Amino acid sequence: MKIEQIKKELSGTPRKWLITGAAGFIGSNLLETLLDLNQEVVGLDNFSTGHHHNLEQVKERLLPEQWQRFQLIEDDIRDLKACRRACAGVNYVLHEAALGSVPRSIEDPLLTNANNITGFLNMLVAARDAGVNNFVYAASSSTYGDHPGLPKVEDKIGRPLSPYAVTKYVDELYADVFARTYNMACIGLRYFNVFGRRQDPNGAYAAVIPKWFAGMVKGGELFINGTGETSRDFCYIDNTVQANILAACTDNKEAMNQVYNVAYGRRTTLNELFEMIKVRVAAHHPEVSDIKPEYRDFRAGDVLHSLADISKISKLLGYEPEYSVESGMDQAAKWYIENL
Ligand SMILES: NC(=O)c1ccc[n+]([C@@H]2O[C@H](COP(=O)([O-])OP(=O)(O)OC[C@H]3O[C@@H](n4cnc5c(N)ncnc54)[C@H](O)[C@@H]3O)[C@@H](O)[C@H]2O)c1
Repeated sequence: MKIEQIKKELSGTPRKWLITGAAGFIGSNLLETLLDLNQEVVGLDNFSTGHHHNLEQVKERLLPEQWQRFQLIEDDIRDLKACRRACAGVNYVLHEAALGSVPRSIEDPLLTNANNITGFLNMLVAARDAGVNNFVYAASSSTYGDHPGLPKVEDKIGRPLSPYAVTKYVDELYADVFARTYNMACIGLRYFNVFGRRQDPNGAYAAVIPKWFAGMVKGGELFINGTGETSRDFCYIDNTVQANILAACTDNKEAMNQVYNVAYGRRTTLNELFEMIKVRVAAHHPEVSDIKPEYRDFRAGDVLHSLADISKISKLLGYEPEYSVESGMDQAAKWYIENL
């Protein structure tokens, strides 16, 4: 089914959704789209990396009656009782809550494990017992690890390069076992470097795109780990939101209990990315036109190149990314310039 058809059907028949990590970057964007489609949404978040100001911004962008269909549970997925409370009466789960960042997981593997594996397992158990229709979860391109093949195809993975990557792979294994053992419907979405509004520029573990926007707009360090020829498949947030809705609402039986790459399907080097951001910021802040990044050492645990093959998700779920890297970057630039 096409996304427009699904959105039309959803608007006519509101369902109940649970978004874990609703106060985070991806979660708050899912929340905005679903409330805009007049859905009923429960959000579960412990605000470890998410923010109340993300929710405030979603509220400002919606009608009051849409915002009223949102219920926030401020609690932790490491607590099974909280997961059960959040899953009650829910049709679809979009499980986003986790601790991101490869370096954070290298510094504190136990904390990453507790959030990303124990928390994940709690959510699977709660969703199973609540009879949820479809459990869609955030997996990660880090699962490709040291596999050299490009583009990345879902069934060819290597060895994980970080504790974070281990946790995301274990989640896939658990979801698969739950699907087969308890007849649950689970879909994993391996995100590749998502970017866009509300991605956090602050903190030691911030992602490169918000960090560079903040560094250029407000001043601050601008560095590249490595030579800058490292490449990634950057994917604008609205494409990621589309993938989640398609996965939750699919009526294609073949599409169930699978993992999918979610990306745009193009490789951009960090040097190219730096220029892309600089040009957009310079249109408002001409003083950054000549700015250059500082080059530092490569980071442990990082993969050198990443590019997704998106034919599986296109074929089985009807995914058609609406935003290219450039058009997504135009949107992101507008947001960062207005909000930083
Ligand atoms: N952003 C990306 O490029 C990317 C790439 C691959 C995978 N992912 C995955 O997508 C998901 C969302 O990532 P994001 O970029 O929005 O990160 P984020 O940090 O902005 O959002 C995560 C949210 O989960 C919440 N959370 C964390 N631990 C929790 C817990 N124990 N209980 C309840 N809430 C908790 C945080 O407070 C936050 O609001 C994560 O699972 C992440 O691993 C993201």
